[in-house]
Amino acid sequence: MVAFTLNGQKRELALDGETPLLWALREHLQLTGTKFGCGVASCGACTVHIDGAPVRSCITPLSMIEGRSVTTIEGLSPDGSHPLQKAWVAEQVPQCGYCQSGQIMQAAALLARNKAPTREQIVEHMDGNICRCGTYLHIISAIQRAAREA
Ligand code: FES
Ligand code: FES
Repeated sequence: MVAFTLNGQKRELALDGETPLLWALREHLQLTGTKFGCGVASCGACTVHIDGAPVRSCITPLSMIEGRSVTTIEGLSPDGSHPLQKAWVAEQVPQCGYCQSGQIMQAAALLARNKAPTREQIVEHMDGNICRCGTYLHIISAIQRAAREA
């Protein structure tokens, strides 16, 4: 049994501690906003927050989240009104959309600790979150917009 907080609510899962968090979220909790991309921590599609820090849920065993707080894209804001989510719409960032929840979760962790990041800081922080559709310039613009309008 693994006990943790998920998007502000206490949860318990009767799963093996080696089960990847991504699997628990998608297959057992039906939170499918977090995506499976590579499965080996190389793309960022599965990014969620643990105690506010961005992590790759595909390689995070459930045993690591015991007693900790997990936030997924579904819990980033109650109604999709996080400044990043609004900026993502305004800048029309997504193409296929597959990578985008991971991109937003990665960006949200940056703005939580740095309210006015430079372009270089944004690029450095987002490095490693892959977008096969090449939306990188729109992602940077959206993060800059969110920082301005938050
Ligand atoms: S699916 Fe986790 S980093 Fe790619
Ligand atoms: S929008 Fe298609 S992979 Fe990023």
